[in-house]
Amino acid sequence: MKRIVILISGRGSNMEALVRSCAEEKWPAQVVAVIANRADAAGLQFAQMHGITAVCVPHRDFGSRQGFDAALAEAVQSFAPDLVLLAGFMRILGTAFVHKFEGRMLNIHPSLLPAFPGLHTHRRALHAGCQVSGASVHLVTPELDHGPILMQSVVPVLPGDDETSLARRVLATEHVIYPTCVRWMLQGKLALKDGRMVHREGASQVWI
Ligand code: GRF
Repeated sequence: MKRIVILISGRGSNMEALVRSCAEEKWPAQVVAVIANRADAAGLQFAQMHGITAVCVPHRDFGSRQGFDAALAEAVQSFAPDLVLLAGFMRILGTAFVHKFEGRMLNIHPSLLPAFPGLHTHRRALHAGCQVSGASVHLVTPELDHGPILMQSVVPVLPGDDETSLARRVLATEHVIYPTCVRWMLQGKLALKDGRMVHREGASQVWI
């Protein structure tokens, strides 16, 4: 059984989708811990209710980013994970942390990367007049929201959309593509070729 640790900061709907897919699709894996940087992260309750170890490493307890990163790395490492999944984890992780888990740490970002890394992606997409938006699952590298892309979803931007309606449409696709990517990782279906993550059997890495 592969061991999965999920990092969250809030609601945790992507974490829920991952936990549900793991159980329903009988992945050869177990979500062994959900770790949050805030005690009030709602997702911690879902984890507890599903018998998953829920841990908080509060970033506010640390005077420096390095101190927080070191404590978080220790907490993550204590679960000996094969995969570390960032799912709405809202702290920037330093290079040392990223290097510890590089190649087995994924993130989901609510934009079509490389467009709109960072915060307020939907607002920025609307402001730019984008006709489509979406989400990206990528390997985590030291550069924020920048690693090789495993899969992207594409949704239309509709007339009258605001941040909330666009976020809702994108989020529904996040709950599909993140579990798909994790399943592929567990099955060894993805390979890094020339800096890109490619499906070995040519499956579509786009969800429309
Ligand atoms: C998602 O839109 C995710 O892409 C972004 O933060 C949001 C987290 O939502 N990184 P949730 O906590 O998974 O519901």
